[in-house]
Amino acid sequence: MKAVLCRAYGPPESLEIAEIPTPEPGAGEVLVRVRAAALNFFDTLIIENRYQAKPDLPFSPAAEFAGEIAALGEGVAGWSVGERVSGYMGWGAAREYVVTGTDRLVRVPDALTDEQTAGLAVTYGTTIHALVDRAEIKPGETLVVLGAAGGTGIAAIEIGKALGATVIACASSPDKLALARERGADHLIDYSAENLRERLKEITGGNGVDVLYDPVGGDLAEPALRSMGWGGRYLVIGFAAGEIPKIPLNLLLLKGCDIRGVFWGAFCKREPARQAQQMGQLLEWAASGVISAHVDATFPLEETATALRLIADRKARGKIVIKP
Ligand SMILES: NC(=O)c1ccc[n+]([C@@H]2O[C@H](COP(=O)([O-])OP(=O)(O)OC[C@H]3O[C@@H](n4cnc5c(N)ncnc54)[C@H](OP(=O)(O)O)[C@@H]3O)[C@@H](O)[C@H]2O)c1
Repeated sequence: MKAVLCRAYGPPESLEIAEIPTPEPGAGEVLVRVRAAALNFFDTLIIENRYQAKPDLPFSPAAEFAGEIAALGEGVAGWSVGERVSGYMGWGAAREYVVTGTDRLVRVPDALTDEQTAGLAVTYGTTIHALVDRAEIKPGETLVVLGAAGGTGIAAIEIGKALGATVIACASSPDKLALARERGADHLIDYSAENLRERLKEITGGNGVDVLYDPVGGDLAEPALRSMGWGGRYLVIGFAAGEIPKIPLNLLLLKGCDIRGVFWGAFCKREPARQAQQMGQLLEWAASGVISAHVDATFPLEETATALRLIADRKARGKIVIKP
């Protein structure tokens, strides 16, 4: 089978396309023919050994996939060859076949394409956990989304709207904001041209922000935190800007607000039943159009480096998918 391999840490261009043996499923596992694998920002870090997960070399990037079951391992019951499935595996999906345990799989509704389903787990999964479990967001609250046209950002706009929030989308260009508006944002802020704090004060009528979703970090974090309302919840999602902000703790005291961490990978391990329930909710929402499972662009497996370059260069608008 064909696989994208990271044999030595480096930029996307150092990835190789290789022919390797098709794996066989062990007891309790299935072999899945991958039809679509979705990329995430952290794939740009994992191939450079700059991410918290450090797989042994060589490995394939891409944490999530959709496809159909090609073979069943010993003792697997309740699943059949040919069934459409999707799953999350941390890394390793940028290849024609993957072997995985059935506990990591979900069935795919007919209404959804492989491309849509491949990219649902990480960004939408993180966001439903973030907004529901960590922020405890309530209908009518204001939700500010930084990096709003990125993978997690679009998921936050859509799930925020589904949960009844008023969504303020913030991004670095008018075309990114146009996508955020299309996905349902109520208010837009271009933080490359406008003052984030002043605009948030204006839009919230001086009351401040209830929930802030931050996948970007860097220089945006402090003005964003200074914009929180009383009892607000600031969600730490990621650091796409590169710099991990250092926060003056007095701001939390003055605002009576919380900073809450979100770590979806650990949540999946610690609370698998809750995560499965949320994945079911996401598939239902996607199949009925409540969320879009938006895909920005699709590339053949051989062009994985080009696909990852879009994300690394801040040019992706939502999910980037590769097709083996
Ligand atoms: N906590 C968790 O469990 C969890 C789960 C999933 C992802 N994450 C993390 O969340 C972050 C965002 O992931 P994502 O999939 O949404 O990424 P993405 O699709 O690449 O979006 C990230 C956004 O960040 C902004 N950005 C600012 N500076 C950037 C830079 N130097 N390079 C790239 N983007 C930059 C961009 O928006 P503008 O151009 O509009 O500023 C971009 O749209 C990553 O750090 C990822 O590891 C965390």
